[in-house]
Amino acid sequence: MEYLYAVAAFGSIVVILSAGLIVAERFLVNYGICKLDINAGEKPLELEGGRTLLASLYANEIFIPSACGGKGSCGHCKITVNSGGGPVLPTETPYLTRQEVRANVRLACQVKIREDIYVRIPEELLNVKLFTATVESTKDLTYDIKEIRFRLNDPDEISQRPGQYVQIQAPSPDGDVFRAYSISSPAYEKNIVELNVRIVPGGIGSTYLHNLNEGDPVVFTGPYGEFVMNEDPSVEIVCVGGGCGMAPMNNIIHTIYDRWPDRTCWLFFGCRGTQDIFYLDEFKALAEKHPNFHVVYALSDKLGEGEVWDGETGFIHLAADKNLEAGVPRQAFLCGPPLMIEAVTRVLEDKGILPEDIFYDEF
Ligand SMILES: Cc1cc2nc3c(=O)[nH]c(=O)nc-3n(C[C@H](O)[C@H](O)[C@H](O)COP(=O)(O)OP(=O)(O)OC[C@H]3O[C@@H](n4cnc5c(N)ncnc54)[C@H](O)[C@@H]3O)c2cc1C
Ligand code: FES
Repeated sequence: MEYLYAVAAFGSIVVILSAGLIVAERFLVNYGICKLDINAGEKPLELEGGRTLLASLYANEIFIPSACGGKGSCGHCKITVNSGGGPVLPTETPYLTRQEVRANVRLACQVKIREDIYVRIPEELLNVKLFTATVESTKDLTYDIKEIRFRLNDPDEISQRPGQYVQIQAPSPDGDVFRAYSISSPAYEKNIVELNVRIVPGGIGSTYLHNLNEGDPVVFTGPYGEFVMNEDPSVEIVCVGGGCGMAPMNNIIHTIYDRWPDRTCWLFFGCRGTQDIFYLDEFKALAEKHPNFHVVYALSDKLGEGEVWDGETGFIHLAADKNLEAGVPRQAFLCGPPLMIEAVTRVLEDKGILPEDIFYDEF
């Protein structure tokens, strides 16, 4: 018992000291004006020290991807800090490979500006913009997924690659937060950004989006993301998604058939039950017009009484395994939960798709 008291007392002292240090740093330490140098003089900035690198860049309209809103839990805000970033923190190491640490890659949300700091930011990220838009329509796709369509105001056009995402600004009791959502509308709809949003009970971003009504204003940054489609139409495209992982697939497929009406593309979409099915009729209609488009939906749960289903059953990686021949030049785009991505990746690699031709976003 005495031992437990001692541990509890020690724990309390550590918490109090840590809180004291945070408060002291916040209110007493003045780092003064620090220099923030981007890409060796390309964009020199001067700013008040003491904030995170992510927040300081945002304040200067440089929008680094930050899917978790700066909580240090997504690993998306990686940039190279050549000097002035201090040592790598334990909160960063789970997201950095040894190679990245050696190359001075850091999580911008964990690095605090305390002195002059020198960073490298890829050109593409310097071109990310802040958009204002208006909700044009909202529609229930399933019991938990909504399609939300925005018309852009300022700027009034977006240049996106299919598979990219935006970060929506959502209000929270602790101030505004950002959450990542893939763009579901095709790249040729330049004035529109459409999303498929699954509600997470109690979730800040998804609840905010589900409560939006026609005419409401929204703010977001983007586009972000590493998906790059092979421009050679002889390379087949394989899209695999589950749940709201449909959004980037919808964008990719409509963009493909706008540009290459004869290109071969496979869509594998995993659902638990019939209640999770959406866009199937639209894709069947598209496949009628484009015979090289193959649509495969699979249900993983048993059918309920009286339910009828003539598509695939079982997990979606099994449907991909069954339908795809090996040895065909292909590129693949996957979106969904980590276990699905892992299982599908194994199948696709067995079919001969190279790891560098498999792009994925886990969510
Ligand atoms: C690149 C990328 C693209 C994405 N695209 C989409 C998209 O197109 N559509 C979409 O709906 N979402 C998408 N997401 C997920 C989205 O960014 C949010 O993480 C999700 O909407 C939850 O945010 P929230 O603010 O509602 O919940 P939070 O307020 O962040 O979390 C509330 C609680 O729910 C838990 N939680 C968070 N996420 C989940 C989850 N997925 N399932 C169960 N519990 C959870 C948290 O741990 C927390 O306890 C994407 C994520 C990434 C990284
Ligand atoms: S913003 Fe998510 S880890 Fe930095």
